[in-house]
Amino acid sequence: MATIQMSVRPEDLSQVPRGQERIPDPGILVIFGASGDLTKRKLLPALFHLRQADLLPREFAIVGVARRGLASEFAEDMRKGIIEFGGVEADDPKLDEFVSHISYFALNFDDPSHYANLKAELDRIDKERGIGGNRLFYLATAPDFFAGIIENLGAQGMAQPEKGLVAVVIEKPFGHDLESARLLNHQVNAVFHESQVFRIDHYLGKETVQNLLVFRFANGIFEPIWNRNYIDHVQITVAETLGVEGRGPFYEKAGALRDVVQNHMMELLSLVALEPPSSFEAESVRREKLKVWRAIPTVPILNTVRGQYGPGIVDGQRVIGYRDEERVNPESGTETFAAMRLEVENWRWAGVPFYLRAGKRMKKRATEISIQFKQPPLLIFNRLHTTNPCQAIQPNLLTIRIQPDEGIALRFGAKVPTTPEMAVCPVNMDFDYEGAFGKSSANGYERLLLDAMLGDQTLFAHRDGVETTWALFTPILQSWAAKKPEVFPNYFAGSWGPECADHLLEHDGRAWRNDLGRS
Ligand code: BG6
Repeated sequence: MATIQMSVRPEDLSQVPRGQERIPDPGILVIFGASGDLTKRKLLPALFHLRQADLLPREFAIVGVARRGLASEFAEDMRKGIIEFGGVEADDPKLDEFVSHISYFALNFDDPSHYANLKAELDRIDKERGIGGNRLFYLATAPDFFAGIIENLGAQGMAQPEKGLVAVVIEKPFGHDLESARLLNHQVNAVFHESQVFRIDHYLGKETVQNLLVFRFANGIFEPIWNRNYIDHVQITVAETLGVEGRGPFYEKAGALRDVVQNHMMELLSLVALEPPSSFEAESVRREKLKVWRAIPTVPILNTVRGQYGPGIVDGQRVIGYRDEERVNPESGTETFAAMRLEVENWRWAGVPFYLRAGKRMKKRATEISIQFKQPPLLIFNRLHTTNPCQAIQPNLLTIRIQPDEGIALRFGAKVPTTPEMAVCPVNMDFDYEGAFGKSSANGYERLLLDAMLGDQTLFAHRDGVETTWALFTPILQSWAAKKPEVFPNYFAGSWGPECADHLLEHDGRAWRNDLGRS
């Protein structure tokens, strides 16, 4: 398909008004579960990127908390992580100074007495660095430990200190169904006020996800057509080529629906579907998202599909099936693919299907949202010309590439030059983030960590939102659990998922878009 590239003029970029970036007050970031991959691969590189951009306070400390006794190696291990995963040069002039702010504290998460020691250690660091009591507790442990850690922080008076501001960041998964999410919310709110709670979904830190709001509400031309009168349907795909990457035990309990649909995909859907918030403030944005989720009626089980990958070829490499992965049950019934058709029953969207699919070991890595517009009321071209190079006129399609190849493309019909008849061919207007703004090494956690330190909850989940999305998916999970899938594995690694997922759309006379990525 012919493509028209779109670019940003340097003179426009240089005139973009930049808000005065706020810098958080001095504080201590305490990371529970610091020996896990997340800390080294994402959190520390993101914190260092903030340091490079001079967005960290002058005085800060990072305390890694874990059960393993890593004290001597911890800071060095984090330095390696920053270099390897943060795209940072080993001789970066700010690296040594940054690493000097990192320390380690060994703690048994279940042992209340250890928290008294942790408190004493944090008070010591606080005094030494003149921090003033501000603390951010980041829970990056296995979810089974969340409630215990929170309770112990509360019992030691660390959640409501005499001075300073304290907040808690909680990694996903936040619960595994409605009941567990409600219980966890209850346990969290028994210790921390909701304004102190930051439930993280790293998708919201992605620039392209934030850009969805800008695209919709900073541009005048899309809003009038962003509704059931013009939009035929919406597809959201989160396709990964990776398998479970050694996370077998976690994934066995999670599955695709819990792992990415209930959280990341629901966030994407809400940003496509929400009404214009009155401001870009936490309460306004969260309120509008909640309205979207509440407008989704129960999804009939017939409108859902689950799949599990067998062996196959991904990116030219032979890979094993899910059941042969490390620490996975050889007869596992866990889904590595989930798809569904749902609707948002409100004035704007009534009758517009939203098709969602997420899968591991798919043909291509691509997270995309595509908005297909309705055909014009009368097709006056291509009616008689069977020799036309583009037989059927394709409807307008707006594709938002969340990752990789971040960008936005709009497909429209153009007249094929030099043909005597009015031949119409689809062409693409394509905006590519990297081409326009340059490559970024940010991983999404920069923005979220900074916001949490600043106390801005806009990009974090609220308890009502979490419970509403779980309420939607819990019946599906229950129904899937009650009936073991008959034919697992049902798709080859390296394919677009099980065939039955195609039927979801075929019933409606539609098809999944499989030409994902940049055209
Ligand atoms: C995580 C899931 O939340 O998101 C992983 O637990 C998944 O299974 C990952 O691979 C996808 O995130 P990203 O940013 O790589 O698209």
